[in-house]
Amino acid sequence: MSVAFSEAGRAEFERLLTRYPDRKAAILPALYLAQKEFGYVSDEAIVYIAGLVGTSPAEIEGVATFYTMYNRKPVGKYHVQICRNISCSLLGAEHLIEHVSRKLGVRPGETTPDGKFTLEKVECLGSCGTAPVMQLNDEYHENLTVESIDRILDQLP
Ligand code: FES
Repeated sequence: MSVAFSEAGRAEFERLLTRYPDRKAAILPALYLAQKEFGYVSDEAIVYIAGLVGTSPAEIEGVATFYTMYNRKPVGKYHVQICRNISCSLLGAEHLIEHVSRKLGVRPGETTPDGKFTLEKVECLGSCGTAPVMQLNDEYHENLTVESIDRILDQLP
């Protein structure tokens, strides 16, 4: 099955291209746009982006798998990504991950059966000074505790 950007997505892609010296330089934002349009970066999306920027699917795949911000499989309505790198670990991230895992009934990498939550452990989210940190969809939540993470997750519709 092939995929293609919507009209608005295509316009956004063309706008992106004007900001970069060549098409290949737009790989990262193009992948982000693909994720926004298609929900995740599927194999079809990899081939599509490769065609748009004029490179091989293997190169696009390499980029998409290197960065944890790209989802290579479908995720739930809420993508709960908890950093487990050094600063976050030292401040209890593993305990938070275990807590959320028990609370949601899924292991890291899994999605709840109702499709509401996907839990993931990720590498440094770049906000080590406010560890421990969770990225919930596009939003960062910092200085987390078991209580604050419960509050955040419990109020989601
Ligand atoms: S170590 Fe967690 S944000 Fe950097």
